[in-house]
Amino acid sequence: MNTISKSIPEAIALLNQEEVIAIPTETVYGLAGNIFSPKAIASIFSIKKRPTFNPLIVHLKSVESLPQVAREIPIKAAHLAAAFWPGPLTMVLKKQSNVPDLVTAGKDTVAVRVPNHELTLALLEQLDFPLAAPSANPFGSISPTQASHVAQYFQEEVPLILDGGSCHKGIESTIIGFENDEPVLYRLGSLAIEDIEAVVGPVAVHNYNEKAPPAPGMLARHYAPATTTQLTTAMSLDLNQNLKLRVGVLSFSNTYQSDCIVAQEVLSKSGSLAEASSRLYAALHRLDSQKLDLILVERFPDIGLGKTINDRLKRAAKK
Ligand code: TXA
Ligand code: MG
Repeated sequence: MNTISKSIPEAIALLNQEEVIAIPTETVYGLAGNIFSPKAIASIFSIKKRPTFNPLIVHLKSVESLPQVAREIPIKAAHLAAAFWPGPLTMVLKKQSNVPDLVTAGKDTVAVRVPNHELTLALLEQLDFPLAAPSANPFGSISPTQASHVAQYFQEEVPLILDGGSCHKGIESTIIGFENDEPVLYRLGSLAIEDIEAVVGPVAVHNYNEKAPPAPGMLARHYAPATTTQLTTAMSLDLNQNLKLRVGVLSFSNTYQSDCIVAQEVLSKSGSLAEASSRLYAALHRLDSQKLDLILVERFPDIGLGKTINDRLKRAAKK
């Protein structure tokens, strides 16, 4: 059984012994280890059952420590770091040679961010090394936004879950790469693309095919509940067609009525996309635990964080 606690000294002791622990961030919980420990990095991949060709994000304590892991930092990357760190933005930059290949899956680039969570920043401040951390879920399943989600996924494998409460943002960081020093979107996330463009101008979207995405997190099926999930633009119609099933509904602000509905999650009664994204994964976790036949999810407006929510819903619904 794992320990769920707020003890930073306990976390430091385990990390110094090359163990892997779960840490809170403002986006989702991460499975963290010392980037310089081959043992810890290997454990992250094996606990998560993640293919080793899928690189990890390096978490730094401050903007000032960026040159220790990245080189040839484009001016627009520096502007983004100044504007959004600590915060839910990951940047893929050329790596320094001291960053182990195990962390970057042999790539010449490293994904980095400074997370915005009090506990984890205090932890990073007291460590002599950055932390590599993917989201703390088995490969392909819904990311955890509460300590209890991590505990359900990994009962034996993780000795400590540092409990930082519910993640404020609730969806992974936005990932930006650079091509010829210009920003390119690799993964939609909890920093809206419009906010990034307000700082550095237009951001191109990486042109990729699904078999070779720029970030393997862009794989078609991902962030997925075990229950069959369907994305809809006509909820009432779809409810009528599934009257014989036990259906769960996930919607933005509307409430639906139908005899087949046994569970319903309204993400923001006031219609706030920020509130809806912070509650999305916890709602999917609740729906997925109720042995439903079908989860019907409503398509969101395609602006700001609505784009990110639609991206995750599409992947969750992909067969
Ligand atoms: O919010 C987040 O980003 C959370 C918290 C824990 O920080 N972390 C997270 O990590 O979502 P993970 O491993 O689930 O997703 C990281 C994504 C993966 O899709 C990976 O392929 C991509 O980042 N990535 C990492 N290094 C990369 C690199 N050098 N080039 C391209 N993509 C990279
Ligand atoms: Mg993940």
